[in-house]
Amino acid sequence: LTVALLFGGRSSEHEISCSTASGVLSAIDRSKYNVIAIGITKSGAVTLQPDDAAMFAMNPDAMPVVPDNGTRVHWPESSTTRELTVTDASGVTRSLGDVDVVFPILHGPFGEDGTVQGLLELVGLPYVGNGVLASALGMDKHFAKTALEGAGVAVAPWVTVSPYGWQQERDRITADIRELGLPLFVKPARAGSSVGVSKVTSLDELDAALTVAFAEDSRALVEAAISGREVECGVLSGRGGEPPRVSVAGEIIMHGRDFYDFEAKYIDPDAAELVCPASLEPDELAQMQRIAARAFDAIGGSGLARVDFFFTGTEFIVNELNTMPGFTPISMYPKCWQASGLSYTELIDELIQLGLE
Ligand code: DAL
Ligand code: MG
Repeated sequence: LTVALLFGGRSSEHEISCSTASGVLSAIDRSKYNVIAIGITKSGAVTLQPDDAAMFAMNPDAMPVVPDNGTRVHWPESSTTRELTVTDASGVTRSLGDVDVVFPILHGPFGEDGTVQGLLELVGLPYVGNGVLASALGMDKHFAKTALEGAGVAVAPWVTVSPYGWQQERDRITADIRELGLPLFVKPARAGSSVGVSKVTSLDELDAALTVAFAEDSRALVEAAISGREVECGVLSGRGGEPPRVSVAGEIIMHGRDFYDFEAKYIDPDAAELVCPASLEPDELAQMQRIAARAFDAIGGSGLARVDFFFTGTEFIVNELNTMPGFTPISMYPKCWQASGLSYTELIDELIQLGLE
């Protein structure tokens, strides 16, 4: 089978997607899958890249990026063919053969948000992971929380703010935000890896934090900070319409940083520790797994998601769902599955098989 691995992309998580691609390129079962590596540059050019895991590996000093090598990959001409073609830098076009499934391991807007999924639906290519709506919902923290709340899943109280609202109705919005208490988290509605997120301990800091969030998206969320342990788990769709499967829990243990920000996630190796399995009582784990499956169902999820929680000691509050979570061998999603009995290579295989269903 031929898998087209799609990575990089236009979002602020471009580098993280490259590192995820590196992990998949190094572990995918080569006896089953022929891989075409398709890198999307930061400006959106769709390029053919070498099938080279080392080239895209995470390096905190020089983050991996998709270089524009002048090639351009073209999607099938209609939904009746699965043939990809490439035009090389000198303008010569050749076939890349038929693709059986696309694996879009893109994070953030223009990839994890339903846009690429919509493109693949249009051209009729099967793909791994969530569809258009679940991806769009999962990406947008305002609409995801609205859907989760509607399904009876506990989320942190929040206020959504637009630049227009903030200019015109600052007093009313500030009054709503005051009700949330302190500290607060200010986040862009659609971003990931904590890009554009600030922790605010006084209302005087709101304006600056909103400016940072608005640089990433046209709406921002101001959320009450929940104090509790940060635990996460993986969800995988069931095969053949079976109920979703949920992994054991992993926990993020912070060492001396204010919150699990971009630095702690990718740059500073000592800032955070991923402990998997997390120490939870069996009934606590069962409760968390039930909520994770309900959250996945609430957004109409398919394929996979990582569900992130705050555990207050009595209650699991959903922080968010990631419909294409970080996916290197040391990322939380694969770690949770490894601890549940599915190796990294098996997990990749399982996802591809789900994408082919
Ligand atoms: N947004 C990053 C990749 C994650 O959720 O793991
Ligand atoms: Mg996220």
